[in-house]
Formats: sequence, C-alpha cells, structure tokens
Amino acid sequence: MHTIALVSRKGGTGKSTLALGLAVAAMEHNHKVCLLEADPQGTISNWRQRRTQSEPMVETVGDGAEIAHRLALLQSWGVTLAIIDTAGGQSDITSAAIGAADLCLIPARPSPLDIEAAAPTLAAIRAVGKPFAFVLNQTPVRSYRLNTAAASLSQTATSFAMSGVLALPTIALRNDQQDALGAGLGVVEYARDGKSADEILRLWRWIWAKLIAVEPADAQPGLHEVAALANQQPNLRAAS
Ligand SMILES: Nc1ncnc2c1ncn2[C@@H]1O[C@H](COP(=O)(O)OP(=O)(O)OP(=O)(O)O)[C@@H](O)[C@H]1O
Ligand SMILES: [Mg+2]
Repeated sequence: MHTIALVSRKGGTGKSTLALGLAVAAMEHNHKVCLLEADPQGTISNWRQRRTQSEPMVETVGDGAEIAHRLALLQSWGVTLAIIDTAGGQSDITSAAIGAADLCLIPARPSPLDIEAAAPTLAAIRAVGKPFAFVLNQTPVRSYRLNTAAASLSQTATSFAMSGVLALPTIALRNDQQDALGAGLGVVEYARDGKSADEILRLWRWIWAKLIAVEPADAQPGLHEVAALANQQPNLRAAS
C-alpha cells in the first residue's frame, strides 16, 4: 500500500480538493483507495455524503496516534492507496500524517503569500526526511504569474538543496473543480473530457511515478515507530 499526505499549514490551498480528485483518478487506474480524513472540518466526509458511489472509502481519524493503526488496518483490507487529507495549521495529527506518508504533497496557490507560507510545511516534512512535491493549484488559466510562481517555488526548493519537486502539471483554477466537489464526484467523473480532468489524471501519473520510486512506508520496518517518532517531534517549526 502507498500513502500520500496532503499538507499545507496555509488554509484553502486545495488539500481536500486535490485529495478527492486524485482519489478518483487513482481508482480509474485500478487502485483500491481510502481517503483518510484528518481534518475535523469534515470536507471529505461531507463530499462522501453527497456521493452515491461506494468507493473510495472514507475513514476519519481524530488524533495522530490513530493514523499508523488505521493504515495497518487499511492494508489488511487490501487498500492499495491511502490519501490523508490534513487540516491547515500545525498539529500532532499532521505530524503523524507526514511521518506515515510515502510522499507528502504540498499544494500552494501561485501567490507570494502561499509560497512563503509553504516554507514551514516544507521544513516540517524535511525534519522527518520524507519525499515531497509541491502542487501549484488554482493557477490562473492565462497569466504571467504562473511562471513567476513556478520560478519562486523552484528557488525555494533549490534553497533547500532539492530538485524535481514541483509536481506537474500545475492545476488551473476552474469551475469543474468546485462543481465536482459540490456534486460528490471526482473531477474525472464530473467532466471526463474537461481540462481539469486531464490535469488531475496527468498529475496522478506524475505522483504514481514518484511513488513507485520510493519504498512504501509499510514495507519499511516499524510504521508504528515512524508515526510515534513523528509524534515525538517536539515542535516541527520552520527554521526560518
Ligand atoms: N483548482 C481549483 N479550481 C477551482 N477551485 C478550487 C481549486 N482548488 C481548490 N478550489 C477551491 O478552493 C477552496 C479551498 O479548497 P480546499 O477546501 O480544497 O482547500 P484546503 O487546503 O483543503 O482548505 P483547508 O485548509 O481549509 O482544509 C474551495 O472552495 C475549493 O472548491
Ligand atoms: Mg481541507
């Protein structure tokens, strides 16, 4: 089983939207998917209630200590992909999600505020040595700003001596994304031939290539220990 965590301390960057979109895209690639909701806001559960299809399954977790146990259970049920949607801000549960993930995705809107705000999230992920990628989300359909934002993100990544961490393609700001969420659908179900569906499917392929290049956390000894370690991090604050 592979595990992805959507994390950004900044609210509204698209963690839940991308989690849902990617979950359904992965289902179309024959994954048995579980969305693990680690955000009391309940965006994923509300979406699930609007949905008529039984998949993907949705499970909620209330604290960090639960995550590792729940992931072990999901694996025993034959789940091949777990996607953890976390809340904005910093909490034990987000630290545990980062600790349990094979890959952390950091959504950011192409604005200086979002990009600056990504630094503490990145520092928290790097503190436990997890693979990560930024996802530029809600990009204007036509704007010079996209290049500026991409350049700024790459600079951030470079300054942390990392490379190849901008997931592609970037995800544009489009009504389909909001309408799919409102209809209890993944965007690939909502408008199969639309541009958003195409972007999310291509993003899933990028993520899958990244995932298969890293050893699944559950293949490493001590998933529980990793989660416990993440919980023990006293304060995963940004260095800056
Ligand atoms: N690519 C997109 N195109 C259009 N709207 C989007 C897109 N991504 C997200 N949104 C909208 O932006 C808002 C915030 O998205 P979302 O709830 O997914 O962010 P979040 O990071 O999960 O927020 P929170 O930190 O509050 O959990 C929602 O109204 C959502 O519909
Ligand atoms: Mg959310």
